[in-house]
Amino acid sequence: MDFTPNNVLAIDFGTSNSAVAVMDDGVIKRLQMEAGSDTLPTATFFDFATGETRIGTPANDLLMSGAEGRYMRSLKRVLGTSLMREKRLIMGKYINFFDIIGGFLAELKTRAERIEGRKFQHALSGRPVRFHDDPEKDRQAEVDLRECYRRAGFLEVEFMFEPEAASLANNVLQQDFSLGLIVDIGGGTSDFSVFRSNPEADQSVEILASYGERFGGTDFDKTLNVQHFMPLLGKGSSLRRVFGSGTASTPAALFNDLATWEKIPFMYTPETKRVARDLERHALDRTPFKRLIDVLEYELAHELSMLAEKSKIATNHTEEAYTVNLGLIDKGVEVKIAPNDLNAMMADHRLRISAAVRQTLTLATCKPDEITDVMFVGGSSLMGFIKSALTSDFPNAQFHTSAVFTAVVDGLALATARS
Ligand SMILES: Nc1ncnc2c1ncn2[C@@H]1O[C@H](COP(=O)(O)OP(=O)(O)OP(=O)(O)O)[C@@H](O)[C@H]1O
Ligand SMILES: [Mg+2]
Repeated sequence: MDFTPNNVLAIDFGTSNSAVAVMDDGVIKRLQMEAGSDTLPTATFFDFATGETRIGTPANDLLMSGAEGRYMRSLKRVLGTSLMREKRLIMGKYINFFDIIGGFLAELKTRAERIEGRKFQHALSGRPVRFHDDPEKDRQAEVDLRECYRRAGFLEVEFMFEPEAASLANNVLQQDFSLGLIVDIGGGTSDFSVFRSNPEADQSVEILASYGERFGGTDFDKTLNVQHFMPLLGKGSSLRRVFGSGTASTPAALFNDLATWEKIPFMYTPETKRVARDLERHALDRTPFKRLIDVLEYELAHELSMLAEKSKIATNHTEEAYTVNLGLIDKGVEVKIAPNDLNAMMADHRLRISAAVRQTLTLATCKPDEITDVMFVGGSSLMGFIKSALTSDFPNAQFHTSAVFTAVVDGLALATARS
């Protein structure tokens, strides 16, 4: 196998954003998949008006402009699940997620080849330490992703744990043999590595342990959406009982799925719309359910999730209450989210991150006070609650936040130069 550095493309296929890089004369070169940006949104839009498939920012823009079509995001979350194989009729063709993810990766390959003027037959791809907490699904996810790379036209793909790649790129350890911790909180997974700078090791970094769990920024969006937006569509409302007297409450699964990025494309079915109409008939207050029916009819759930993500980020960066305009679902509707609301919403996620970090240290058999440097990677590490959860745990560490969106692809590019 010819796995030489000059024909290997480093790809960070992320839940929310992807990035591509190569080594160029011993220097990392990020290939701009979109002009002016080192990353692009991992999103696909099938545009019914033109029959074209668009990826990245144009896909997001088409969704937000209300163009008629089918939008897909959080594609990585579907790997390893039965949804991968479900065929759906889109623009006259029956396609499944292998076609959609394979198509996305093929477009990255084409753009990289156009920029570099040469072919890339091999890929070095990042992967989370765990796609899924269930080992069988986790194994299947890598099998699925490998198949997607094959369909994209790559002859061979190798995988590397994302936080281990990031540890190569974070050349910040002050002294040899000091201990670093990568905290990579992305869109879909949270990944951790403890590493030692070791000048005698290949790449000067020795990994002591890596650990990961399937939760990240898209789960934070979902929490906000379910708690603040879904009640406006009827979640938690009272219903008249069909049998007997008194009231019942709405089924939680429908609202949870409607707030889950990767499940949204499967919500616009006649069956879900029938359930929504049924709920409206039995509701004590019909207004929220009329909105729910509209959201399903006009396919607005992705826009709602986009608003949830935007509100999460805005609330994270302000001391004031943030007002979200939900005119999308009904004229004049808005909700206010205060920083304290955000902290309360994120309380369980905060506990989970702290526990995952403890687990990583246990696997590495090292103590928090031995860690000299903590490197935050991944867009969700910009959430204030994550830093505040971890800073007091590492009394002797310096904290670093830089290149949160590109550390993984940089490390992958460096790893392509491995012997
Ligand atoms: N300023 C910010 N504050 C808080 N969260 C942010 C900010 N900017 C981006 N995010 C969140 O970061 C996440 C995306 O981060 P990133 O691009 O690192 O993930 P990814 O690499 O695509 O996902 P993964 O590695 O889990 O597959 C999204 O959930 C996004 O909402
Ligand atoms: Mg990532």
